Amino acid sequence: MAGLKVGVLISGRGSNLQALIDACAAADFPAEIVTVISNEPAAAGLGRARQAGLDARAIDHRDFADRGRFEAALTEALEAAGADFVCLAGFMRVLTDRFVRHWLGRAINIHPALLPSFPGTDSHARALTAGVKLHGCTVHYVWPEVDAGPIVGQAAVPVLTGDDEASLAARVLAAEHQLYPRCLRLIAEGRTRVVENRVEIDGVAPSGPLLIHPGPAGPES
Ligand code: GRF
Repeated sequence: MAGLKVGVLISGRGSNLQALIDACAAADFPAEIVTVISNEPAAAGLGRARQAGLDARAIDHRDFADRGRFEAALTEALEAAGADFVCLAGFMRVLTDRFVRHWLGRAINIHPALLPSFPGTDSHARALTAGVKLHGCTVHYVWPEVDAGPIVGQAAVPVLTGDDEASLAARVLAAEHQLYPRCLRLIAEGRTRVVENRVEIDGVAPSGPLLIHPGPAGPES
């Protein structure tokens, strides 16, 4: 199914991109990926995109005199490919207000923490240091402030005794791969509405598909 035309911006491995590619391959998925752009020419995600037969290109930020010109090239490429929506999937460049305002309400990001906790980098290490018992990931609309913006969905995972950064990151990443396509689906179905700083979703219960959690563990013996 065609539907919402999505451009995906990446910088690296592209496992979230892969989750979106796989979701879009289902006949009833209401979105399609029209282009994948990486600011890092060596990003493994570009290979995943090409493997899936998608339009994929590098736009190297180092080739531009400033952030504004780089972002203008991004928007031009996205629009030339027919994108009317943007998914950031491990895109490691901070975006200027100008770019964000151009795509306001039409761009989402996935962040590896339960926002507003642990915005920015090293979220897993900081979660371990803080001693939280639940960690996870958040899909949110892109707003001018980094890792802020109305929350579309969250997935929580337990922090287990003996976890290190790698084991926790792997558990969160598996949750990311579930959450991101679910969020994109509901947006593409036109069921999300931003009301002030909240996202309201038609026809989805509070405990619905955009809230993934480990659930009660039950009494300990
Ligand atoms: C993910 O953890 C994502 O939440 C963060 O960067 C990582 C990207 O991983 N923004 P991948 O490139 O999707 O594998």
